[in-house]
Amino acid sequence: MADIFSIKRVDHLEFYVGNAKQAASFYAECFGFRITAYCGLETGERKTTSYVLEQGDIRFVLSSAMIADHPIAQSVLNHGDTIATLALEVSDVNHVYQHAIQNGAIGAILPTDREDTEGVFRYAAIHAYGDTCIKFIQRDCYRGAFAPGFVARSVKTNGNNTTSPKLGHLSHIDHIVGNVEQGKMDEWVNFFVKTMGFDLKLSFDDQSISTEYSALMSKVLQNGGKTSININEPAIGRRKSQIQEYLDFHNGPGIQHIGLATSNIVETVQQLKQSGVEFLPIPKTYYQELETWVNEIDIPVTHLAELGILIDRDEHGYLLQLFTKPLGDRPTLFFEIIERHGCNGFGAGNFKALFVALEREQEKRGNL
Ligand code: FE2
Repeated sequence: MADIFSIKRVDHLEFYVGNAKQAASFYAECFGFRITAYCGLETGERKTTSYVLEQGDIRFVLSSAMIADHPIAQSVLNHGDTIATLALEVSDVNHVYQHAIQNGAIGAILPTDREDTEGVFRYAAIHAYGDTCIKFIQRDCYRGAFAPGFVARSVKTNGNNTTSPKLGHLSHIDHIVGNVEQGKMDEWVNFFVKTMGFDLKLSFDDQSISTEYSALMSKVLQNGGKTSININEPAIGRRKSQIQEYLDFHNGPGIQHIGLATSNIVETVQQLKQSGVEFLPIPKTYYQELETWVNEIDIPVTHLAELGILIDRDEHGYLLQLFTKPLGDRPTLFFEIIERHGCNGFGAGNFKALFVALEREQEKRGNL
């Protein structure tokens, strides 16, 4: 993978939002991100405003439109706030782009060089599921703040600045999960395999991931790096699948959640809760039914129950995870906080408990 495609890492995720200034404040204050770069009217950009936020190896770009006739405005109208772009840092944009196109990808942006006094920034993009784009970025010849057009910013928020972060335990993007329509999962799995050389690692079907009401099917792709790309499709349940609820409110496929890794989930979750992040409440019965092996881990079960942290394991180790409530008004995008101890899975053992919790929320919204 590394030889053919030379995908280095997830460079950033770009969110298209209604109001980038306020969204930047939300992710900074609640999740401990630092605002590191800015692009807008003051920097000469007349049509859009963007804030770059960073924490550990995680980088988000929050962008909004300042004119009605702009793709970001259209996206917000259709999808609400959404992650529109998955940007991958690569060694050779031209090569990766050409390979993707030759293998069936539809181009969105031809390989382009943008230059300023800080060097050359090269990028290209292809279309993925729904209106999501995958951008390839080559920044080895660029020294500036994020990209040409941006200026560096260092904004102190809620005790969180560049020197002494009170928040800020999130280290990297563990996985990115997209929801596609029923019957489309294999098509998109093949897209990632063929156009970008991902390997299919794990697969869950609706037998292992279902409750009385909901079901989903899920496949996990990896490219040798730290981040997995997972794809879900709804399966037939008695009532509406949580994936279908997403598809209805998002108006089509898109990124459902981002797994953000931490090495100290207890402290992270305590801090996130203090700053106002809402998590999915987990039924008390979940902790009564845990198997005895959980007593072998360092954190007491009572502590996990207090914070609503879920636990799962495979033959390599265990993981701790929990999920935020939707980040915006629509029941679409949310975050997962995950701490891995060897386990390579995604919490399949928790899918049922999680579904029960999700369905309670879905029911409150009148969408079950
Ligand atoms: Fe996940």
